[in-house]
Amino acid sequence: MNSLHGTDPSDSPRSARSAGALDRQAALEWYRRNRARSAQLFDMLSEGCYFSRPIALRNPIVFYEGHLPGFSVNTLIKKGLGRSAVDARLEEIFARGIDPEDEQGATPRGGVGAWPGRHAVRQFADACDHLIEHALLHDPVERAGVPVLERAEGVFTMLEHEAMHQETLLYMWHRLPLADKTRPVGDVPSPQGDPPAQRRVAIPGGTATLGARRDEVAFGWDNEFEAHVVHVPAFEIDVHDVTNAAFLEFVDAGGYGDPRWWTDEDFAWVQRHGVRHPQFWEQRDGAWLWRGQFDLLPLPAGWPVYVSHAEASAFARWRGARLPTEAEFHRAAYGTPGGGERSYPWGEAPPDRTRGHFDFAGWDPVAAGAFPAGASAWGIHDLVGNGWEWTSTVFAPFDGFRPMPSYPEYSAEFFDGQHYVLKGASPVTARELIRASFRNWFRPHYPYVYATFRCARSLP
Ligand SMILES: [Fe+2]
Repeated sequence: MNSLHGTDPSDSPRSARSAGALDRQAALEWYRRNRARSAQLFDMLSEGCYFSRPIALRNPIVFYEGHLPGFSVNTLIKKGLGRSAVDARLEEIFARGIDPEDEQGATPRGGVGAWPGRHAVRQFADACDHLIEHALLHDPVERAGVPVLERAEGVFTMLEHEAMHQETLLYMWHRLPLADKTRPVGDVPSPQGDPPAQRRVAIPGGTATLGARRDEVAFGWDNEFEAHVVHVPAFEIDVHDVTNAAFLEFVDAGGYGDPRWWTDEDFAWVQRHGVRHPQFWEQRDGAWLWRGQFDLLPLPAGWPVYVSHAEASAFARWRGARLPTEAEFHRAAYGTPGGGERSYPWGEAPPDRTRGHFDFAGWDPVAAGAFPAGASAWGIHDLVGNGWEWTSTVFAPFDGFRPMPSYPEYSAEFFDGQHYVLKGASPVTARELIRASFRNWFRPHYPYVYATFRCARSLP
C-alpha cells in the first residue's frame, strides 16, 4: 500500500456537484488533490530522465508536466471564459498528446533543445494553477447557454483529464529503468498471494444499461451518452481474471508461436516484434520475473496477468473461449439475478478501500479475488479494480453521441475501428473516475496498459 493520497483513503471525496450545481470548494479541493498527486509522480523520477521518452509512441516526460496545467487553462480559461491565459507559446507546445499507430508515426518535435527547461515549465505551471484556482472560486465557470460552461463541463473536463493522465504517466514510468525511480517513503510492495480457484458462472439472458443519463451523473465524457438498454444473450464468464500462473500455461504450451490462436493481424504483430511473453514479464536464467513499478519480483502467480488485447484474445481462443463484450461486462458487473441494476458491482456504496484495488492503493496488482466485498451480484471478482478489463467491443459512439464542446476531439478521433473498449479500473485509476458508464480504449497491440481480462463463452 502506498501513501500517494491527498485525502484519507477511508472517506470519499465530496462530489463537485451538489443539488445540481457546481460545488466550487469541492472542485478546488479536487484540483489541489490532483496537482499534489501529479507533483508526487514527477518527484519520483530522477532529474536525468526528464527529457527522455520512456514509450516511443508518446511524448517525452517534460511535455506532460506542462501539458496538465496547460490543458486546464486552455480548456477553462481560454475556451470557457474566453480570456487569454499565461503564455501563448507554451500553451501551444503543451496542447496535445499523441497516439500514432507505430513508432514511425511518432514524429519527435525536436530534441531536448526544442523543449523549455524544467524551471520554465514549473513557472508556467504555477501561473496556470493560480489562474485556475482563482477561476474555480470566483469566475462564472458554470453558465447555461455557454457550451463549454454548461453544467460546468470545462471544470469537470480539466479535473478528470488530469486524473486520467496520472494513470498514463505511471504506464510510462513503468518502462523507465528502476534506478531512475524512487519509491515514496513509507510505501511497501504489494503482497504476492496465491491464485484463487477459477470457476465460471452462467448468466441468463437479460438486459444491461450502457451509458449514462445526463441528469444522473455529475459529469460524463461524450462517449458515455446516451444511456440505452441492450439485450444480452445468456453467457458464461470466469469469476476471476486470468492470473500470471494461468497465462504461463499458454506461454509454456507454445501459444505465442501458434497461429491458430491469433488473428492474421495479431500474429503478424507477434512475429514482427518478436513478442514471446507479456510486456510486464522478464525471463532471467530460466526464471520468470515481474517488472513492477519499483522492483523486479519473482512472477506473482496469483496476480492478474497484464497483456495487450491481442494476447488476451489469443489466450481466450486457446481455452476455447473469447473475451466478453462490453454489454456482457455490464451485465456481469452491474446486473443482478432479480433483474435490477446496481451503480457498482457491490451495490450502491461509493468506492472505498474494501471494494477493490484502485485509487492508487498500490503501484502493482494484488492477488485476484482479494476483495470479496467488491464482488458483483453474480459473485464475480475484481470487475472494478486490479486492472482494466479488455472487451471484444470495438470503441464506437452510442446513438445520440455528440462531441463535447470542451474537448471535441476526446473520443471522436478514436472512432476508427482500431481501438477496443476496456472497462473497470486499475490500481492507479482515481476514485473520481469510477462509474459504470466510464469507458477506456486502446489499440489492440499497445502492451503498456494495466489491463487484464477474463474469459467468456456463449451459452445456447
Ligand atoms: Fe491530455
